[in-house]
Amino acid sequence: MNEHKKIQLKDYRPFEFIVDHVDLIFDIRDDHTRVTSKLKMRKDPARANETTPLVLNKGTFDIVSVVAGDMVLLPSEYKSDDETFSLLATPDLFELEITNILKPDENTALEGLYRSGNILCTQCEAQGFRNITPYPDRPDVMAPFSCTIVADKARYPVLLSNGNLVKSGDLDNNRHFAVWEDPFKKPCYLFALVAGDLAVLKDQFTTASGRDVALNIYSEKEDIALCSHAMTSLKQAMAWDEKRFGREYDLDLYQIVAINDFNAGAMENKGLNIFNAKYVLADPQTATDDDFMGIQGVIAHEYFHNWTGNRVTLKNWFQLSLKEGLTVFRDQEFSSDMNSRPVKRIRVVKNLMAAQFPEDSGPMTHPVRPDSYIKMDNFYTMTVYEKGAEVIRMIYQLLGQDLFRKGMDLYFEKFDGMAVTLEDFVGVMAKVSGRNLDQFFLWYTQSGTPAVSMTRQYDENTEILSLTFTQTTSPDRNQSEKKPFHIPVRISLINRAGETVKQDALYELTKETDTFKFDNVPADTYPSVFREFTAPVRLTTDFSDQDLAFLMARDTDPFNQWHAAQTLFVNEIKNLVTAIQANKPMTVSSGLVKAFSLALENREKDRAFLSKALTLPLETEIKNHFKIIDVEAIHQARTFLKQTLAKKLASELKTVYEICRSANPDDISGAAMADRSLKNLCLSYLGCLVNKDIQDLVQKQFETAGNMTDEFAAFKILSHMNPDVRDEACHAFYDKWQTRTLVIDKWFSVQAQSSLEDTLDQVKKLTAHKDFTMANPNKVRALIFAFAMNNPMHFHRADGRGYEFVAERILALDKINHQTAARLCSCFNLWKRYDGNRQVMMKKQLETMAGQKELSRNLYEIVSRALE
Ligand code: PHE
Ligand code: ZN
Repeated sequence: MNEHKKIQLKDYRPFEFIVDHVDLIFDIRDDHTRVTSKLKMRKDPARANETTPLVLNKGTFDIVSVVAGDMVLLPSEYKSDDETFSLLATPDLFELEITNILKPDENTALEGLYRSGNILCTQCEAQGFRNITPYPDRPDVMAPFSCTIVADKARYPVLLSNGNLVKSGDLDNNRHFAVWEDPFKKPCYLFALVAGDLAVLKDQFTTASGRDVALNIYSEKEDIALCSHAMTSLKQAMAWDEKRFGREYDLDLYQIVAINDFNAGAMENKGLNIFNAKYVLADPQTATDDDFMGIQGVIAHEYFHNWTGNRVTLKNWFQLSLKEGLTVFRDQEFSSDMNSRPVKRIRVVKNLMAAQFPEDSGPMTHPVRPDSYIKMDNFYTMTVYEKGAEVIRMIYQLLGQDLFRKGMDLYFEKFDGMAVTLEDFVGVMAKVSGRNLDQFFLWYTQSGTPAVSMTRQYDENTEILSLTFTQTTSPDRNQSEKKPFHIPVRISLINRAGETVKQDALYELTKETDTFKFDNVPADTYPSVFREFTAPVRLTTDFSDQDLAFLMARDTDPFNQWHAAQTLFVNEIKNLVTAIQANKPMTVSSGLVKAFSLALENREKDRAFLSKALTLPLETEIKNHFKIIDVEAIHQARTFLKQTLAKKLASELKTVYEICRSANPDDISGAAMADRSLKNLCLSYLGCLVNKDIQDLVQKQFETAGNMTDEFAAFKILSHMNPDVRDEACHAFYDKWQTRTLVIDKWFSVQAQSSLEDTLDQVKKLTAHKDFTMANPNKVRALIFAFAMNNPMHFHRADGRGYEFVAERILALDKINHQTAARLCSCFNLWKRYDGNRQVMMKKQLETMAGQKELSRNLYEIVSRALE
């Protein structure tokens, strides 16, 4: 394994040149594309008359010609290798024209210019633009771009780039061209181009100040009927950003293109978003309610980047959370306003705890602003995105809505058109509030999840309740000693009757230990702390299971009700695991069964909330509560708890199932989705009982469902029952949906996550299925990621065959798509947390990978950190 260079924040230097204009020409041919880039450049005035070499980033393509001013340069007059293009010296002001040839059909990494089916498209973030043409590929170099595309008119009737279409027309030989101009200066990671035979859905939006914006969503022709939900979501997002943040759209045209082969979810290229088709295409027949919500959220996220990311961009990639954390916060707020706020909050926090907390406790742990990277692609993480959004949310809590908005206004006013840093952002927030946020800034520079414990002391004579909070953060590879964080805590007091004794207010922890005292507190008062999850910490309290059952029923914050329920479940599962490990019989406490049945009786409450509150934590979440992860015991304990609840409450579950069945199958209103989620939760409990009637009930829902939410929910349950039932359901589902690639992804993922004994062999077989390909990231995620990340029982098989299989796939994928291979490899990250045998086997796979001669830099970084 070769060593690769680390890029460090402390080495940041501004670029020595200014790019005044970029003019790109793409001449698209059947087997190649010729790119000509004309750069108008100038030396930074501070360096005038100095001899400064010009060094541009460059991919592995060959240069065809270089013209500087009017001079054609000889190859000896410039230097070009696989990483850089350079000129030893330049005048202060100059023009440079570079031509090179690309082979998009051979580009399986899906970065730079590549083919997806019949469409040619680009992906430039983070550092893909250098694979298109030599350029200062860094976010702090901003320039206006124009882009001319020339292609065959029959094969590529639609030619798109950023900004406005200024000219188009026909050429000889059935070819045509389009010229696009983007008036806004931008870094090259926001450049985009699309050419293909696409259908378009058109609509229009009038901004608050009365400007008309044309909205175009493009997809493959057969999918265009599936774009209307995306369009509705886009218009909702545009209206919301005006209302909530006073931000209007700035061009006359907003375009979105759905692409089948895409490494990420979507990309915010200026005026031309490129999306993974999964986040555009939906109808109730083929997409679940969760898919609909996902589309709404991602469409909004990319739209919001127009201000947070594009108009104000990043000084360097270390500041990634400046755009991502902030934009995730904005899309979360949008989704909360469009749907149920508490349910959105629960989803977000569940995801954070399930995926970011473990990331922050393993070899990939890094601060929200990392100090170094080998490949930036590896830092599009849960920490930068989701924890980054929590950090913004804490600022929002500390300042309050009005001051936060003032801070945002000032941020846009001061930094529009600039490339800035997290200090700049926190600086405006400090300025408008008059607060010192220096200690708060540790959230950006110090890694790890703080553990906060809360204990109560009550004095009956004085009626004073004291709450003592202690915070500790474990040392890690980034800092050997951690300073205390500035942690906001929202607290309210509640009496036995569930009434508020003291209104919700914000408190702040700044020391290792902080105590807050409340007077005139009657006995039997409960504190409700960290309401709405005010900070991304692991909380432990002195609450007993009875206390938690009370809070689950009566906390005045629905988020905390959910959190109490989850803690109860986890406690119960921990007890069961202890029993299993001690070879003792398993029993479920009657208190838990009672709390569960009480909640179920309360079904007139928000049903979406209820279905979240009654969902057991996943095995992958439960594992985070153990020092040493006992995969089998956790699986057995959770299954036992689920079956026990189902057995004891079967008739109640059936009643609720029936009550929630009335929703119209194509209704995607909040209420209809809520009914379906509670109904399908009840069915999933019932489905773990081995019982002919139940099997018939699930089968019936599977066969007669009027939408994908219900069909898929039943399909999942059947996939765990037994091999015959699973196989029959798989055949039926495949026959029905084989022409719909996004639905076939669901078909792969259900099989990959089955708990049945032969799952690994099934998954191996499926890798040879005609609809499976390692070249399509959605397929790899549906089958291989789903198996490696969401099927712990089978990935962590005691015989090590799960590890072997996945490691072999990672190496195969690394030759095709290094970004996705590196992401997949994180399934080995927590190897030190498993039992001795598994540790040895996982480590061996990591070492085998490390021993490969030709490992991509992406995969190298993940593997070497895991082995450090
Ligand atoms: N910037 C994109 C987003 O957050 C994500 C992305 C990163 C897409 C890198 C592609 C490549 O919306
Ligand atoms: Zn983003």
